[in-house]
Amino acid sequence: MGLKMLPFHVPDIGDEEMAEVLDVLRSGWLTTGPKARDFEREFAAVVGAKHAVAVNSCTAALHLTLEAAGIREGDEVLIPTMTFAATAEVVTYLKAKPVLVDCIDDTLNLDANRLEQAITERTKAIIPVHFAGHPCDMDQIISLARARDLRVIEDAAHALPARYKGKTVGSIGDSTCFSFYATKNITTGEGGMITTDNPDYAARVRMMSLHGLSRDAWNRYSAEGSWYYEILSPGFKYNLTDIAAALGLAQLKKCDRFWKTRERYAALYNEGFRDLPEIVCPSAASHVQHAWHLYVIQLELDRLRITRNEFIHRLQQAGVGCSVHFIPLHLHPYYRKTFGYQPEDFPVASSMFQRILSLPLYSKMTQEDVARVIEIVRNLVKESRR
Ligand SMILES: Cc1ncc(COP(=O)(O)O)c(C=O)c1O
Repeated sequence: MGLKMLPFHVPDIGDEEMAEVLDVLRSGWLTTGPKARDFEREFAAVVGAKHAVAVNSCTAALHLTLEAAGIREGDEVLIPTMTFAATAEVVTYLKAKPVLVDCIDDTLNLDANRLEQAITERTKAIIPVHFAGHPCDMDQIISLARARDLRVIEDAAHALPARYKGKTVGSIGDSTCFSFYATKNITTGEGGMITTDNPDYAARVRMMSLHGLSRDAWNRYSAEGSWYYEILSPGFKYNLTDIAAALGLAQLKKCDRFWKTRERYAALYNEGFRDLPEIVCPSAASHVQHAWHLYVIQLELDRLRITRNEFIHRLQQAGVGCSVHFIPLHLHPYYRKTFGYQPEDFPVASSMFQRILSLPLYSKMTQEDVARVIEIVRNLVKESRR
């Protein structure tokens, strides 16, 4: 082996983040306060939304948004099976049912043509996930939702900065949820954001993110605040600290630069694999800006003598960190047992799962790192060809 390992992900943290965090540490105010408010204001401006509410994860953002949208026990919510645990589990928090929908085989996004047949009289919302950062077919999803009076809550954990037909993701559906988890395009370690143009949603998620109180701590303890508060509803503890928000403020300023680097590296990968019939590369439709959170390739297994798992094992042995996004939800024991889902219920996701793997893609990589990954992948394909 003898090669230095290229991790699957490394966050891009510089002096600006350290200065912002030190500023908070020195200020005497660590929890939700002025930095969180600044982060919300700047984030709303970047995505073009009227309101932004900072929370401590995208999971929290999704939970709060579903609650604000009035999702209750017995309701059904349509979500793609090709997603992370969070998108579906939040539906179960509210004792509603996550109804899974298959994906399309190019972007791996939810197949909007399969939504209609999954709708029942209990269906209340759709959660499209912009897989890897490629926006879903929002025109089709929103027109169906409007016709059936369904809410559209976007899971944009991967989709910053992304655009769909000229609109920024974060300003399209009823509400959009972002993630600032350690591996995301910008990070606060753990964190999330809800954006919406609906003032009622914004007010409800803000209140419910902090125990359902009528006033947050900053409004109680700061010089201009008052000690008095009322509990308006039994809420949650989902607020974002000013320490995390400080990181977010510094990261947000670099978001465009990070994205340009990711886009350039994705183009280098595409060019580097273009002549290999064994690999299907991801691409961006002409009407979108792909956020390039993930670079997911599909292996043409009938052209190879090894499986996807062996492929990943060999890449890791050669020093390339890889991952798989995602194990579709319907293949997990909980979803199989609880809802009786079978692999053949979602033929596209089941078959794609055997073929997909994610290569490293992040701004902290160098162009030489990208070139090395290309060379290692090409060599592996040549050695494993049928
Ligand atoms: C598609 C998707 N949705 C939601 C989440 C949850 O994000 P968080 O870790 O910020 O709660 C993730 C996290 O990886 C994700 O990939």
